[in-house]
Amino acid sequence: MSAESAAAPTSEFSHPNLEVMFSADDIAARIKELGSEITRDYAGKDLVLVGVLKGSCIFMADLMREIDLPLTIDFMAVSSYKDQTRSTGDVEILKDLSNPIRDKHVIVVEDIIDTGLTLHRLLEILGSRGAHSIKLAAFLDKPEPRVKTEVTIDYTGFVIPNQFVVGYGLDAAGRYRNLPFIGVVKDPSAA
Ligand code: IMP
Ligand code: MG
Repeated sequence: MSAESAAAPTSEFSHPNLEVMFSADDIAARIKELGSEITRDYAGKDLVLVGVLKGSCIFMADLMREIDLPLTIDFMAVSSYKDQTRSTGDVEILKDLSNPIRDKHVIVVEDIIDTGLTLHRLLEILGSRGAHSIKLAAFLDKPEPRVKTEVTIDYTGFVIPNQFVVGYGLDAAGRYRNLPFIGVVKDPSAA
C-alpha cells in the first residue's frame, strides 16, 4: 500500500485519484461574475431558471443566489448518455416543467455542454412553448467534441479541454456529484 493511500483512505474529497481543475474558490468567484451579468441583463424581465437534472443542481443553487432579481425556478430531467456511451441526440423527457413558460424569459441552466446534442434537442422542445426568450447558462463548455455547433452558450462558467470531469454536480456512473470542486479522474479504471 502506498503512503498516499494509507494517509487518506476514507476521504472522497481528497481522493488520490482526483486532480483538481477548478477549486471551490475559483468556482464561487466565477459564479459571482455570472450572477452579476444575469442581474444586469434581466432587470425588469419575468425570469425563470430551468435547471436540467441532475447535473445542474449545484450550479443552479449557487447561481440563483447570485442573481439579485425576482425570479422563479423549474426543473426538467432528460435522459442523455445512455449506458455511459456517447449522446445520441435522442432525448427522452423523464420529468417535464411544472409550470408553463409562455411569455417568460427563460434561462436553461446546464452542467456541461459536450456534443451539444442533448441541449439542442431540449431547446427545440422548449422553443415551441411560447417563451419570450430562451438563453443558455452552462457551467462548463467542452467545445472540442461539439457536434451541434449552432448551440450558443450565453453564460459560460469555464471552457475546458476534452477531458472527463467530475464534481460540482457532475458524475461518473453516479459518483462524485458531491465534490465541492471540479476534478479529473486520473485513472478511470481505478475509480
Ligand atoms: P451532450 O449531449 O454530449 O452535450 O451531453 C451533455 C451531458 O453529458 C451533460 O449534461 C452531462 O450529463 C454529460 N457529460 C458530458 N461530458 C461530461 C463530463 O466530462 N463529465 C460528466 N458528465 C459529462
Ligand atoms: Mg446533464
